[in-house]
Amino acid sequence: MAAGPRGRLLLVALVSAAAVVAAGGLLPGCAAAAGEKVPLALYYETLCPYCSRFIVNHLAGIFEDGIVDAIDLRLVPYGNAHVVGANNTISCQQSPSMAAIPRFRPALLLAAILLLAAGAVEGKKGGKVDVALYYESLCPYSAMFVVGNLARVFKDGLLDAVNLSLVPYGNARVKDGKISCQHGSEECFLNTVEACAIDVWPDLRVHFRFIYCVEDLVVNHKQREWESCFGKLNLDPKPVTDCYKGERGHQLSLKYGRQTDALQPPHKYVPWVVVDGQPLYEDYENFEAYICKAYKGHPPKVCEGLARPPTPTVLEVAEAGNRVSYYDSGDIRLKPDEDGHAKIKVVVPDDDD
Ligand SMILES: *[C@@H]1O[C@H](CO)[C@@H](O)[C@H](O)[C@H]1NC(C)=O
Ligand SMILES: *[C@@H]1O[C@H](CO)[C@@H](O)[C@H](O)[C@H]1NC(C)=O
Repeated sequence: MAAGPRGRLLLVALVSAAAVVAAGGLLPGCAAAAGEKVPLALYYETLCPYCSRFIVNHLAGIFEDGIVDAIDLRLVPYGNAHVVGANNTISCQQSPSMAAIPRFRPALLLAAILLLAAGAVEGKKGGKVDVALYYESLCPYSAMFVVGNLARVFKDGLLDAVNLSLVPYGNARVKDGKISCQHGSEECFLNTVEACAIDVWPDLRVHFRFIYCVEDLVVNHKQREWESCFGKLNLDPKPVTDCYKGERGHQLSLKYGRQTDALQPPHKYVPWVVVDGQPLYEDYENFEAYICKAYKGHPPKVCEGLARPPTPTVLEVAEAGNRVSYYDSGDIRLKPDEDGHAKIKVVVPDDDD
């Protein structure tokens, strides 16, 4: 019943393989670069206690720490059994009377693992940290955040630790189904273009490159040239054009409007960065530290040396103390960063106009 020396050896080898995967092969940067999953196989038998313990205490952990995304897991429920006789009877290490059970147990174990996986997916998919940016296309602080800060996650290895969503709507308002934007109709238009880009290219790497390109033009006051981004990135303009010219674009913007209005606590300005449901208020430029703190997996290298961020309570108090200066009449100061260091600052008007 117990794993013999050979069985134990096998398990040790498997545990070490998992450890190697956890320690090295899984640095998000590497996984991203290779784009290949590490094959991991478990050869086991259902009634071997070492096998069960390994599955429950160790293997199941991969669904919680995000490793599951990086491996190609194969379960082989057979173990030390062997085939006897000319009629292909399978004889298991377990007594014949119990040998009937294994036929059902693998399914049960697999079900248990899948359940664990489903739980992980429901909570935090693959252990990734949810990061959302609520922004508007023509807000210079939003643009500078996208270009100068957020883009770093594509280089520093953090990307594989986050589930990043962009919500292009910001301080817009909906009245009678019509959207009005803080920086006028040009902003509504580009918000919709960016919403369409996200819709047409759901792959973050693709739509982010496009949005980055447009926002880089915004930073340089050349947003009228936004269509050049299609050519620069070798992307087909047609699906996005069809989208923003049609009803789809409008519907997407309304959807992002609902999503923005549903924020709890509500956003007060843009860019508004939310990490695992918690807004970063004015500390949004330190978003990487918050991601590292929230990430349950093996931390990417960039996390070393990042100071631990303040707790949400401290943040909120700090924000509240500043509220007065941000809630003015809704005046928009469009001058980007005179001192070369952008801070927030488009203000949500107190009332509707
Ligand atoms: C298969 O062969 C074994 C002996 O080799 C025998 O005991 C068993 O009854 C056989 N089973 C069937 C289904 O024929
Ligand atoms: C990523 O976040 C979005 C928006 O919050 C959510 O709908 C989606 O299910 C998440 N995906 C993963 C893989 O976590």
